[in-house]
Amino acid sequence: MQTSSIHGMWSSRLAFVLAATGSAVGLGNIWRFPYITSENGGGAFVLVYLVCIFLVGLPVMFSEIVIGRRGRMSPINSLKELSDDAGKTRAWMGLGVLGVIAGFVILSFYSVVAGWTLHYGFLYFKELIGMGQPITDPAETFTGLLANAGELTFWHGLFMLMTVAVVALGVEKGLERAVSILMPMLFVLLLILLGYGIQTGHFMEAVSFLFRPDWSQLSFGMVVTALGQAFFTLSLGMCAIMTYGAYLPSNANIPAVGTTVAISDTVVALIAGLAIFPVVIAFGIDPAGGGAGLIFTSLPLAFAEMPFGIAYGMAFFLLLSVAAWTSSISLMEPATAYLVESTNLSRKGAALCVAAVAWMLGLVSVFSFNLWAEVSIGGRSLMDAKDFVTSEIMLPIGGLLTALFAGWALSSAISREELDNKMPNWAYTAWLWLARVGAPGLILIVMAGRLELF
Ligand code: PFF
Repeated sequence: MQTSSIHGMWSSRLAFVLAATGSAVGLGNIWRFPYITSENGGGAFVLVYLVCIFLVGLPVMFSEIVIGRRGRMSPINSLKELSDDAGKTRAWMGLGVLGVIAGFVILSFYSVVAGWTLHYGFLYFKELIGMGQPITDPAETFTGLLANAGELTFWHGLFMLMTVAVVALGVEKGLERAVSILMPMLFVLLLILLGYGIQTGHFMEAVSFLFRPDWSQLSFGMVVTALGQAFFTLSLGMCAIMTYGAYLPSNANIPAVGTTVAISDTVVALIAGLAIFPVVIAFGIDPAGGGAGLIFTSLPLAFAEMPFGIAYGMAFFLLLSVAAWTSSISLMEPATAYLVESTNLSRKGAALCVAAVAWMLGLVSVFSFNLWAEVSIGGRSLMDAKDFVTSEIMLPIGGLLTALFAGWALSSAISREELDNKMPNWAYTAWLWLARVGAPGLILIVMAGRLELF
């Protein structure tokens, strides 16, 4: 059993929790969760999403960390070693390959959206120092940005450079420190926004939109979207948490750290929803019509009215960029670790190759808003198609295979040992059967229903 990884190690179990929470908390919570929730009609969607987090997300989270820590290598090679040790087929490496591909595709559009947040941070900064125009018509500002391919490419490129810089330095340096200071700051800003939302007088309407289920909205399509959001927001299904697990000290308690990450992520998403929807309602925006621009077209209206709104707006978007940064690092890490293990490339060279490919792939998303706005695949823009294929197909399949591998291919002696001997028996048995049958079964049923197979 390996006790360390050639790529480095987290300095403590807290460092892992911070890094994994940094990976989980990002645009998925503050940008994607509100707009997907609004498109799916609120309450029923949120409840299904919460069920997916606990019945599917949590067991898959434990499974990823167990596999990663046992293998101590990039996902592809960890799966190879562990399959060999267990006398199972090497075809399991395919899960690692799927994860690496999903990582490329997600990184490529994630970086474009993170570029929007950087751009908004910069707009507020210019306004603050008296060199920019105030955002008087947020919808127009947003449409104007999307129409400008050059601007989008620049911010997408800048964000990708920021990501590659950290990944090139390795796991110990930079990342841990950045996460431990900046993430709590973002949380405080969210709480301030929540306070503003409460005093708009529309807070209870937001609560009821988010938590009162209208079950007529329930469909297999909606459930797959909720499942996809659960995977996306927890960074599961593409071996990112598996990769972080490879750097986890042997004495860390996996159920404790995994649960902490899942709960923190869920709390941030719910607070983001509770902070954003009162604003959306107060300014009469049609929640269902907001689409991917929801936070960019609604929040500036609130910032224009709040005391110190410009400084606040700048801090909010810059910290959101940081949250996106700590997530994009984890999107880049699995492929980078694999290249370091399997080629002669240094970590720097490997990270640069991954970034270059993801940046080029990202141009497809950039152009989907302007030059290629007419192109669609199955009724979706190229941007939406990449998001759909990854979160609603690749991540659930990745999660399914991860749970099956941890539940069936690994011996229960190994998973028991990794999950901590102090874990009560009932809890271990619950995890084991959720990983073996519960989570894969739910994923299969939901996906089959979506494909109208029954
Ligand atoms: N969990 C991140 C978010 O919510 O923004 C996005 C993400 C990161 C997805 C890493 C997948 C991943 F592997």
